[in-house]
Amino acid sequence: MKPIMKFKRYTVTAALPYANGPVHIGHLAGCYLPADIYVRYLRSKGEDVKFICGSDEHGVPITIKAKKEGITPQQVVDKYHKMMGDAFKEFGVSFDIYSRTSSKTHHETASDFFKKLYDKKVFVEEVTEQYFDEKANQFLADRYIVGTCPKCGNDNAYGDQCEKCGSTLNATDLINPKSALSGEKPVLKNTKNWFLPLDKMQPQIESYIDSHKEWKSNVFGQCKSWINSGLHPRAMTRDLDWGVKVPVEGAEGKVLYVWFDAPIGYISATKELTPDWELYWKDKETKLVHFIGKDNIVFHCIIFPAMLMAEGSYILPENVPANEFLNLEGDKISTSRNWAVWLHEYLIDFNDKQDVLRYTLCANAPESKDNDFTWKDFQAKNNNELVAILGNFVNRTLVLTHKYYEGKVPEALEYSKTDLLLLEEIVKYPAKIAASIEQYRFREALSELMNLARLGNKYLADNEPWTLIKTDEKRVQTIMNLSLQISANLTVLMEPFLPFTSVKLSNMLNLNKGLKWNDAIRTDLLLAGHVINTASLLFEKIEDDAIVAQVQKLENSKVMNEANTVATIEAAKPETSFDDFSKMDIRIGTILEAERVPKTDKLLKLLIDTGIDKRTVVSGIAAYYKPEDIIGQQVCILVNLAPRKIKGIESQGMILMAENSKGELSFVAATKETMNNGGAVK
Ligand code: 2FM
Ligand code: ZN
Repeated sequence: MKPIMKFKRYTVTAALPYANGPVHIGHLAGCYLPADIYVRYLRSKGEDVKFICGSDEHGVPITIKAKKEGITPQQVVDKYHKMMGDAFKEFGVSFDIYSRTSSKTHHETASDFFKKLYDKKVFVEEVTEQYFDEKANQFLADRYIVGTCPKCGNDNAYGDQCEKCGSTLNATDLINPKSALSGEKPVLKNTKNWFLPLDKMQPQIESYIDSHKEWKSNVFGQCKSWINSGLHPRAMTRDLDWGVKVPVEGAEGKVLYVWFDAPIGYISATKELTPDWELYWKDKETKLVHFIGKDNIVFHCIIFPAMLMAEGSYILPENVPANEFLNLEGDKISTSRNWAVWLHEYLIDFNDKQDVLRYTLCANAPESKDNDFTWKDFQAKNNNELVAILGNFVNRTLVLTHKYYEGKVPEALEYSKTDLLLLEEIVKYPAKIAASIEQYRFREALSELMNLARLGNKYLADNEPWTLIKTDEKRVQTIMNLSLQISANLTVLMEPFLPFTSVKLSNMLNLNKGLKWNDAIRTDLLLAGHVINTASLLFEKIEDDAIVAQVQKLENSKVMNEANTVATIEAAKPETSFDDFSKMDIRIGTILEAERVPKTDKLLKLLIDTGIDKRTVVSGIAAYYKPEDIIGQQVCILVNLAPRKIKGIESQGMILMAENSKGELSFVAATKETMNNGGAVK
């Protein structure tokens, strides 16, 4: 066991999101919300902490988006940087700085960092074969290459990672690689790049990981599995034009690998925040914690620490509490399929209900496995927990205080045995919740917070001050005093999770604004005679129709997606001449008989009256029509196609079918004028 170290200060980072789309609930649940809860708690404990984030504005996700939208990468990042920063602020994510990797400070910092490693001869220069798209005339970044994952067979794996099985890949590992730019098969071409020799650094990295057995098991496990399969040198430069230029000779047309520059973004943002930035990155008494999603584990636990080790003057991450993924209504959240709850849209529909979403996402956080967000559960968490437990307790306490004492805190006169037991319980909560937060168990911490509200509710229900007021006014004073103290403690303890509600309750209780975490071990935060403000409801019930509307919105996305799929129409075939076309003799015929061709799924044997004769046609329509349903059906039939044998049956023509973009076939309808068998189709 490692000795428990007391740190003097904290640097807490949340993954820099790519500035290529708005923020959704998956982002929030994955790392920004847990990071914010952790930081708010640390601040409340009086710790010295810097909470760092910003937009990741380089890399292929940005250039792909720019291509899709027909704008420049700079326009993409300008648009989304602002949008993302605003969304985080609206949801109370309390970064000390939300910077961006296109900033001058960042370009300089990342460039200097690279130069330092280069001067220390850390990198291995190597000419390797990289995929090149001859049609687009450019080298292909990993994300621009799609192919089959050699580990799990997923056909949509990227050149750097398979999102299905989580394997990290090299583009050349992919089976049947294709360029995402042109769809062409890329060719291999020589190019020089600078590699971080992770293979040589393996012993150092391994002992670093082994010194962190306390990490979450999903994180530690993924690191070990990487290490056990042997680390390989990794290129830290790329043949691209969007990013931080490689600051050495002979590197024209190359930029830093986005996973080299992005984590340095944490350092540059800290530099922008404070002249003391080195204390937060280089002092051994600083605890560095990275909050991320599980797809970022290797970069934060192996590659970035390796870079920091190689540089030599930095501290290493002390913990990397990565979350798994959040799904939505049973399906993977997807930006391209619009299967997401976007924060900016949520706010339009649930104005001022940021804490309800924070609560639901924390209570359901994918801390140890992927989890599902459903609107039904969101409603239940609001109505059955926030309204019925927390809101109900606080509301009853405040309303009764106004009713019996005109808003003045009554004095606690004499504690009964139950009161003493209650007092004993109350004071345990700050430590209980803190212990869970410090171990990155935010769901558990939140549920302890709710237990305190439950305790208060039970105390009121057991003691019934509303009945006692008629017989024992003195007793009611003590009961109400204690209920008010619990409300005050709740204000402090809920702040990391429900910051908006905490402010609201604190205002209602007219509490001293500077209360800290450890004040919540006291049971006299409200002195007798202190006057509280008017009470209003902390939470409101969410009705079914609001939930139905949200589910409907998602359904609409599904329909739109299907429509978009339908819209992917096959390209037109090459031009044909009228002469060629008019060689075809197409007639109207009627199906007289139809039966399945044995041992096939697709074929029907049809007997068709063409007006000129009766002939047999074998047609691949069994998946769309049952034989018994098409007797008498009029069809267009090509009668001068050379006969050919299909499954031993001579097919003497072909019926014309129309195909929709899903590949489904239907008969080409004959109009009234051409209803006679044998009529020619012109
Ligand atoms: O996965 C992502 O969204 C990356 N942009 C995270 C980068 S985290 C850090 F390295 F900056
Ligand atoms: Zn795979």
